[in-house]
Amino acid sequence: MADFVLLISDWYRLNARELPWRNTKNPYFIWLSEVILQQTRVDQGMNYYLKFIENYPTLNQLADADEEAILKLWQGLGYYSRARNLHKTAQQVRDEFNGAFPKTYHEIIQLKGIGPYTAAAISSFAFDLPHAVVDGNVYRILSRYYGIDEPIDTGKGKKLFQELADSLIPEAEPALFNQAIMEFGAIQCTPNNPDCESCVLNQSCISAFNSDLIKKLPVKKGKTKVRKRYFHYLHIEKGLEIALDQRTGKDVWEKLYEFPLIEREDDTMPLEFKDSASLSYQTKHILSHQHIYAFFYKSDETEIDGLDLKFVEKSQLEDYPIHRLMEKYLESR
Ligand code: ADE
Repeated sequence: MADFVLLISDWYRLNARELPWRNTKNPYFIWLSEVILQQTRVDQGMNYYLKFIENYPTLNQLADADEEAILKLWQGLGYYSRARNLHKTAQQVRDEFNGAFPKTYHEIIQLKGIGPYTAAAISSFAFDLPHAVVDGNVYRILSRYYGIDEPIDTGKGKKLFQELADSLIPEAEPALFNQAIMEFGAIQCTPNNPDCESCVLNQSCISAFNSDLIKKLPVKKGKTKVRKRYFHYLHIEKGLEIALDQRTGKDVWEKLYEFPLIEREDDTMPLEFKDSASLSYQTKHILSHQHIYAFFYKSDETEIDGLDLKFVEKSQLEDYPIHRLMEKYLESR
C-alpha cells in the first residue's frame, strides 16, 4: 500500500476528533451530516446536526415535515437550497424506496441533489464500499503531496483527482481512509500556513516546507467573479404589526422572509422611500459569489407607492424563517 495511505490512516487513528456522525452507520444520519457540512464548519454544524436528528429521527419523518419547519430549523446555516433539496430527496427515498436508503453507489448517486462526493461519503461510511470522497480537502492534500498542478475546476482535472483518490482507497477500510483524508485537511494540511514541521507526510510530500508551492496548489483555472448588489430594505411598523415579505424566484434566500425590499444598481436611497424614511442601519453582507450592500430604512408611513405591503404580527416574527442579514439587522437594534 502506498506510504501515503498508511501514514494518513495511522495519523487518523491517533488524531481523529470524536464526532457524532462518525459513530453511526445510519445512511440517513450520514447523508444529513454531509449536507450540513458541505458549506459549514464542523463546530458550527454540530448543533444543527443534533437538532435535526432529534426533531426528525427517521428519514420518513423528515420527508413528512413541512418545508417551512425545516427551513426554520436550518435558519442561520445559509445556502438554504441545501435544506430544500434535503427535504425533496427525503421524499424521493420515501416514495421510490419505501423509506429505506438505497445501498449501492449507483442508486445513491441517482438521488436528487446527491453528487459524486456525497454518494461516495454515504457509500463508504454507511456501506463500506470503496468509493473515494473528493472534496476541497482532498484536492488540496493530493495536489500538494503529489505536486499536481492540473486545475481542479475542469472536467479533466476533476476526473484525474477522482481516479487518483479511487486508486488509493483501500478495499478493506474505505470509510477510515475517507474520514482520514478529510480530517487531515481540516487539522493538518490546512489551506493557509500548514505546519509542515509537525506533519507525518513531510518526508514524502512534494510541497512540504515549500511555501510557494503550498500557496499555488491546488490550481484553479477560473476564479469566480463576485457580483455586487444593493438591497434597500424598509422597516415599517403599523400598531402591533410589521411589514414582511417572502422571497420568491431563483435567487439567494429563496422562500425566506424579509422586510419589503427594493434592489437597485447603487447605494442611493430609492425614490419610493424619499421623505418618509431614514437610514437606520447599513452593512456589507458577504456570500460566496455576491457582496450585498444592505441599507435598512425606518419609516412611519404605512403605505409606500410602488410597494404592496403585507403585514404580520410583530409577536410572530420569530416563527418565520429569516436569513442571516435580517437577523443581523434585528440584532443591531
Ligand atoms: N466535513 C465533511 N464531511 C465531514 C465528516 N464526515 N467529518 C468531518 N468533517 C467533515
